[in-house]
Amino acid sequence: MENTKNRSLGAASTGLKAIPFFTQLTERELELVRSLSTEKHYPKNAVVLTEGEMGDSLFMIRSGKVKVFIGDQDGREMILKILGPGDFFGEMSMIDKQPRSASVTTLETSAFLVLSHSAFEKAIEQVPRIATIVMRILAQRVREADKKIGTLALMDVYGRVASTLLELAVMDNGKLMVGEKLSQQDLANMVGASREMVNRILKDLSERGFISVESKSITIINRELPPSL
Ligand code: CMP
Repeated sequence: MENTKNRSLGAASTGLKAIPFFTQLTERELELVRSLSTEKHYPKNAVVLTEGEMGDSLFMIRSGKVKVFIGDQDGREMILKILGPGDFFGEMSMIDKQPRSASVTTLETSAFLVLSHSAFEKAIEQVPRIATIVMRILAQRVREADKKIGTLALMDVYGRVASTLLELAVMDNGKLMVGEKLSQQDLANMVGASREMVNRILKDLSERGFISVESKSITIINRELPPSL
């Protein structure tokens, strides 16, 4: 197996970010989707979908942010993905009519357009391209999930934290920043580690000058983050 100890993670993180669903539709197509949907509003920290429950609607995010996670009976959770404006979720049960594969809760006040299975079929009848866009996004999600499996199986916690920071980071005013309102517990739930461990790693990366941790964000100063201690 390739030795990753001495390589930085910078090169591995330059993949394209997924393009949100909404931005791939024309104004006319968006209008059609809107006319077939109902709008729903949720406050911060509200449960939108629960893993294991039946449901056949797809949710498109107009505003706000959600976390997609799986949990166990002791209340531990693994965050699979954070989704924001223009993204959708709930498509899996809508397509295969199986129980929800994960839970979804809001991280902020959020507004959604909700499409039922029959409304989705109508949308595809009128704009077949929508099916292609949804398939493309599903393929991207499988790629990301594969990457995550690799990260969990092959990297230690240090590498997982570093790679997750790079995955979440976006350019903002010339700075590479993780602007998500994520707590250290959320970050721990994304990498399958304890909050204390994540705290120690952030401190170490900060002391070594790779990142700077502010109260609501993390700035990546040197993107060549080390994959291990
Ligand atoms: P569904 O199974 O209907 O309900 C839970 C939703 O979470 C699921 O549809 C997807 O929309 C979303 N989801 C599940 N796994 C992932 C993942 N690995 N990445 C992004 N979204 C996911």
